[in-house]
Amino acid sequence: MGVLRTQVGIIGAGPSGLLLSHLLHLHGIESVLLEARSREHVERRVRAGLIEQRTVDLLRDVGLAGRLDSEGLTHEGFELRFGGRRHRIDCTALTGQTATLYGQQEIVKDMIAARVAAGGALHFGVTDVTVADLDGDRPVLRGTLDGTPTTIACDFIAGCDGYHGVARRSIPSGRLTAYGHHYPLGWLGVLVEAPPATRELIYSVHERGFALHSMRSPRISRLYLQVDRDENLANWPDERIWKELRDRLATDDAQPLNEGPILERGITAMRGFIVEPMRYGRLFLVGDAAHIVPPSAAKGLNLAVADARLLADAFAAWYGRGDGDPLAAYSPAALQANWRGLEFSHRMTHLLHRFPDATPFTSRLQRSRLDQLVRSTTAATAFAEEYLGIARR
Ligand code: APR
Ligand code: PHB
Repeated sequence: MGVLRTQVGIIGAGPSGLLLSHLLHLHGIESVLLEARSREHVERRVRAGLIEQRTVDLLRDVGLAGRLDSEGLTHEGFELRFGGRRHRIDCTALTGQTATLYGQQEIVKDMIAARVAAGGALHFGVTDVTVADLDGDRPVLRGTLDGTPTTIACDFIAGCDGYHGVARRSIPSGRLTAYGHHYPLGWLGVLVEAPPATRELIYSVHERGFALHSMRSPRISRLYLQVDRDENLANWPDERIWKELRDRLATDDAQPLNEGPILERGITAMRGFIVEPMRYGRLFLVGDAAHIVPPSAAKGLNLAVADARLLADAFAAWYGRGDGDPLAAYSPAALQANWRGLEFSHRMTHLLHRFPDATPFTSRLQRSRLDQLVRSTTAATAFAEEYLGIARR
């Protein structure tokens, strides 16, 4: 039986937990992080990879952007395809900011490397993680570390353990209000060993459903197809995937797609979810543990990073013994930003997808919104500001 003591106990080595432990370390605050999966597993998980400039700026400020700066792809705009035509939205001309394409698992690798180099307490493969005494002054984190049942006495616990984690579920019923929505949509994502057929992202609205051409590097493409919410991967042999991508991304003057071996594939059912507040006693929820956005705008990582930043600053103020209760501000500030991120992701989902209950009437409304976006600089500027995550609060 092991007994440890730390200031902040962190559950989960996704972007939220890793960044929080790194930021706390920079503030001189100790943490112990427990992750259920192996290091190899978390470093290989492929997720959305569009990084807002404010996220890049934060990672740069805290010394985590070395590889991102050399390998990330800077994007100034994107292409919208609908009605068989191509339209460019020049986000940088409209807002002065850019976005960066860089794999989320690469950010995770960079964060783990930084924590390991700093001698941080990171434990992988931890089983049976539980939390207790959340409403007292000394909450407790427990888990089995390398076969040894261990108790960690903490000042605070941060639940950075994603939607399926243990933290949110440990909060007594009735203390949180959950808001959730299931979209009747799924995304089939493929990572492909082939050069992208485009320099910028292509969002394509098609009568058989949405398609997205993204990328990870000059040699690796990332492509998505809208599919049914409960679709089975077994129904999508490679030839069907490529045919759908070719058809849905086609325009008369478009570059043909570059095909190649599919390195990774998966289907994600789309949903939106938020709990309020993002705190119970001395337990704080961060990132996907508290909120999920549909992936249309790739906001998940950016929102998680913003949460971790807010919470790290609040802990720093608390340990610095400033005035008032800096921790009280965390949940309201994070929720405000997360509702903005969710509302925009919801709107972008409706703008781009073909919903199963679409009628000629709703399809024409959707087309009218798309037309407005490519015709009105005011509409495009407002969209680009939200797409790039500028002024979310
Ligand atoms: N004990 C320990 N670790 C756990 C437990 C548990 N009971 N349950 C889950 N975890 C771990 C998961 O294995 C995972 O590594 O918590 C981590 C949560 O990481 P993420 O799911 O990546 O969540 P977060 O860090 O908030 O990052 C949000 O990830 O889902 C994407 O698109 C989303 O970009 C967003 C980002
Ligand atoms: C991605 O590359 O994973 C990606 C990019 C942009 C999006 C969504 C996902 O809007």
